[in-house]
Amino acid sequence: MESIWITDVSPRDGLQNQPKLLSTGDKLALIGLLVAAGLRRVEVTSFVSPKAVPQMADAADLLSAVIGQYPQLQPTVLVPNLKGLERACLAGAGEISVVLAATETMNRKNINQGLADATRNCQDTVRAAKAMGMRTRAYLAVAFDCPFEGATPVPTLMALAQQMLVAQVDEIVIADTIGSATPGRVRDCLRLLGMAIPMNQLAMHFHDTRGLATANAWAALEAGVRRFDASTGGLGGCPFAPGAAGNLATEDLVLMAQGSGFQTNIDLGGLLDVIEFAQSKIDRPLGGRSHSWLALQKLKGDLEARLLFPG
Ligand code: COA
Ligand code: ZN
Repeated sequence: MESIWITDVSPRDGLQNQPKLLSTGDKLALIGLLVAAGLRRVEVTSFVSPKAVPQMADAADLLSAVIGQYPQLQPTVLVPNLKGLERACLAGAGEISVVLAATETMNRKNINQGLADATRNCQDTVRAAKAMGMRTRAYLAVAFDCPFEGATPVPTLMALAQQMLVAQVDEIVIADTIGSATPGRVRDCLRLLGMAIPMNQLAMHFHDTRGLATANAWAALEAGVRRFDASTGGLGGCPFAPGAAGNLATEDLVLMAQGSGFQTNIDLGGLLDVIEFAQSKIDRPLGGRSHSWLALQKLKGDLEARLLFPG
């Protein structure tokens, strides 16, 4: 059976714009539940300015604790620059992501640099991380539409991806930051990107603003992508991109992929426990499109049977 690889980004993309600050212990418990559900790749935190994102002020303590407590996990962290990389390295990071937005304005809003400077900054950060022996990912943010500049042309995306490949990045993550992609656009975009980038170096990061994230993930699967970001319960959003809603929910992606013959090694019942815990900590309801159905199956006690014999 073919596998897909999911990076759960709920502790980073999910928590970064939550007004309620979670304690390091609560974040650690959340990550522990993700590990218990079978996740082996989790974006744990970001080493950004605590003034820009107060929720991430405990990045170093959290990453060190995660490495100590969950050796089976491959944690990944976001860094916006060399300073962030240095902090992540000291805390023991083995993998980092940089974020390059596809437009001038989005880069300025996010990291206070224009596109040319941001590109150089990301290249320098990736090169330095590689020299430290780390695995690297580069997000191409606002890959479909920018809330400030409109549609992103695919050739622009291609050019930025090439710049990151020149810096020897291991993985390029196409990020639909505001959740405006459609399956047809995903197909067309990947048809072009796939000519320049091996599919196993590409990952997709969808947001579910318009309810199309699962359909978009399916289009990417059909195009040959096997790496996805997702967030349990759909927790998420970007504080710097107006209109960005929660991420593609991990439970929706797992349900779709497992029901379509892909292996994920993730337990849907375990994801329900993550959602329950996260809800209690952020004081608002969470859950992807499939959440209430999954919760009902769990109540009835036949989640396993339903998943083995869907329909
Ligand atoms: N971690 C912690 N502090 C950092 C830092 C980092 N990675 N990078 C810079 N700083 C500190 C500097 O040391 C300086 O501190 P000081 O005021 O005490 O001297 C201060 O931040 C300003 O530094 P500067 O280089 O001028 O940065 P800036 O104000 O232009 O902000 C970023 C740039 C990248 C640090 C900031 O915009 C940021 O953290 N953005 C994150 C955005 C984000 O998380 N987006 C979501 C991901 S999609
Ligand atoms: Zn995102």
